Amino acid sequence: GPLATYDPGFMNTAACRSAITYIDGDAGILEYRGYPIDQLAASATHLEVAYLLLKGELPNADQLASWEHTVNTHRFVHENVGNFIRSYRHDAHPMAKMMAAVASMQTFYPSSRRLDDPEAREMNIVRLIAKIPTMAAWSYRHSIGRHYVYPNDELGYVDNFLAMLFQSQQRVYQADPRVSRAMEILFILHADHEQNCSTNAVRAVASAGNDVYTSAGAGIGALFGPLHGGANEAVLKMLREIGSVDRVPEFVEGVKNGKARLMGFGHRVYKNYDPRARIIKKACDDVFEVTGVNPLLEIAVELERIALEDEYFVKRRLYPNVDFYSGLIYEALKFPPEMFTVLFAVPRTAGWAAQWLEGVTDPEQKIMRPKQVYTGHRERDFVPVEAR
Ligand code: CMC
Repeated sequence: GPLATYDPGFMNTAACRSAITYIDGDAGILEYRGYPIDQLAASATHLEVAYLLLKGELPNADQLASWEHTVNTHRFVHENVGNFIRSYRHDAHPMAKMMAAVASMQTFYPSSRRLDDPEAREMNIVRLIAKIPTMAAWSYRHSIGRHYVYPNDELGYVDNFLAMLFQSQQRVYQADPRVSRAMEILFILHADHEQNCSTNAVRAVASAGNDVYTSAGAGIGALFGPLHGGANEAVLKMLREIGSVDRVPEFVEGVKNGKARLMGFGHRVYKNYDPRARIIKKACDDVFEVTGVNPLLEIAVELERIALEDEYFVKRRLYPNVDFYSGLIYEALKFPPEMFTVLFAVPRTAGWAAQWLEGVTDPEQKIMRPKQVYTGHRERDFVPVEAR
């Protein structure tokens, strides 16, 4: 056949059609269904955004109330899922535990395999979005050797998640409204990002006719990688290694000499300031008002200042991305670094579900099966082992 175009990493290949998220990387624009990310972050809730991503329009007041009720009454997970998470070693990464728990959901809900049934599709999307915070929180509680906290019907999506993470037996956990709003904003910013590595994984697995849980499990696997969702964890590690503001120039020289990457910088699509990073930087201030300033912030700000002036970064159009500041917020909220990627996966589930639905209902979507450029041997004769 004709030679395939060699495009490792799909830099220039559109593998699907989509009407969900629009990005203009040169201009630093991000829109969900046409709504600019800064407007959504300023005024919406995460569940409102999830509805928008899935259904294409913002809900009216009745639709929103009904959607919140439906999602929030599906937050309990089967007890066996709790036992499943319990069966891991205490030091298992929470992301790995959550990945396995999410993938296992299709065994509890066989209707999820009926991709041609719109009601079954919707119901299982609701279950996934409703239950992933529970699985995430339980993965965390298992890691720290604490009892699981069950969902609380009185609390909204984000507050309930925080309570399942931090509640102790002695006192009812009540999130500070500033912390709760900052988390809501972080959730909105992470809800979707068109065909990033994990969404592409979700779409590829879905294209073979798979349910939303199996597909989301693959997405979580992709997001686990340090070049993708793992970057905010890596940023904190880097800031801690740098240790103080006066050591920043030396570190930047090391980056330029190829010793390390500046984690939280650079993006496949944004060749301008990531609009999400700008919003997160503001959310940082709100959280630090409650928690006190994270001393690593000083190092981060100095790193950004030096990098944005340096020719190496200017020439390559490397700017801070969403992960540069999010880790600082999570750390200030006392999340351990292993939880950072989990905190990315929970809201991204809304986007994965919307992209999964769009993929499995697009009559033109084919099974994703790229070509290769073959570089190996051609036909040669087999040699028996004694003769080799
Ligand atoms: N620090 C130093 N140099 C960099 C960096 C960085 N963070 N990112 C890219 N470069 C250089 C790279 O070495 C290359 O230079 P040269 O042309 O001299 O070889 C040039 O910039 C182009 O980089 P690339 O690796 O070809 O770009 P890519 O589009 O394949 O990679 C990226 C994008 C995000 C993987 C990369 O910028 C990176 O590794 N960044 C650090 C990790 C990170 O922060 N990831 C989070 C991404 S945003 C959230 C998410 O999607 O999960």
